[in-house]
Amino acid sequence: MPPRAFTSPELYELERTRVFGRSWVLIAHRDDLAEPNSYVSVDVAGEQVVVTRDADGVLHGLSPICRHRMMPLVEPGTAGTAESFTCRYHLWRYGLDGRLIGATHMRKNPDFDPARCRLPAFAVEEWHGFVYVNLDATAAPLTPQLARISADLTNYRLDDMAQLGSWSEEWACNWKVAVENAHENYHVMGFHPETLQPSTPGGSDTDVRVDSPWALRLLIPFAQPVETYALPLTAEEKAHMYGFFVFPGASLAAAGEMIIWLSLIPQTIDRTLVRGGILVPRAALEGGDLDEMRRQAESYAGMINREDRDGLEAVQRGVGSRFAGRGHLSPKEPGVVAFYQSLARALLRGDDDWPGGL
Ligand code: FES
Ligand SMILES: [Fe+2]
Repeated sequence: MPPRAFTSPELYELERTRVFGRSWVLIAHRDDLAEPNSYVSVDVAGEQVVVTRDADGVLHGLSPICRHRMMPLVEPGTAGTAESFTCRYHLWRYGLDGRLIGATHMRKNPDFDPARCRLPAFAVEEWHGFVYVNLDATAAPLTPQLARISADLTNYRLDDMAQLGSWSEEWACNWKVAVENAHENYHVMGFHPETLQPSTPGGSDTDVRVDSPWALRLLIPFAQPVETYALPLTAEEKAHMYGFFVFPGASLAAAGEMIIWLSLIPQTIDRTLVRGGILVPRAALEGGDLDEMRRQAESYAGMINREDRDGLEAVQRGVGSRFAGRGHLSPKEPGVVAFYQSLARALLRGDDDWPGGL
């Protein structure tokens, strides 16, 4: 892509509306919202989003902007439990399903009907424990679009996995710099010579399968097949890392008995929220020292994230150079090409011809 693609405010504005305004964005894993009355709050390209699990266990995706005078009800980037959200400006109170449940000194306004006052709802869907939100409440459901990926992951028993560790951090780069990087293994020899290069060498051939404008799979061979204890993986599965991508910014890497999820979400034109977690079979956690296992998992992921982050923040400085130019891709980067194609489609599609299903 041309360097301007990473720095143009006009393009970023289009991405905010045409891409992040109507695509499924991975917000959290089920274990982040395990309790009734829990919530996770995230900024998606300048739009505050809160995902809640209400007292009955039902998920909701909501815009947490008070319907009185637009005070945000929660801070972006926070999570926790709450029985309701109270606006700190004039103390209106909302249920976790978005209904207004209290507003003081409003009775004497005859035009105000509290029953009709509620937070706008987004589309929300849980796919094998991954909680996605779409700001377009009329969006076509996500699950049918991931049918092939669900089939590929059968032996990994995603529904029986537990999140061992997780992270949420901000990187100083345009979201596409981070997403491109996630779509290729070629950089492993450069950025990850000691952490990933021994297991998934950057020089190996990557096979790409494009399922739809939304979903693609990358197959990356391991240097050595992995051993398994809890999952009935085939020889093929033991010999490959399976990378699954849900446009625009979600990915899942199935590496033997470990699954790493990642969601890359723009905050501003040059800042990207990086959320992710490590999942393992629930059985693998039984009887183990959970804190120690969590510490190890998070420090392993932290090391790899740091390598990518350092590199990508440097690339961001590069894309801002007046002498930067568009380059050629290698045959090891078919995933990057597929990402560009999905992005072009999403940007060029007008509001009228955005189809219900693809
Ligand atoms: S802005 Fe929320 S109660 Fe006034
Ligand atoms: Fe990397």
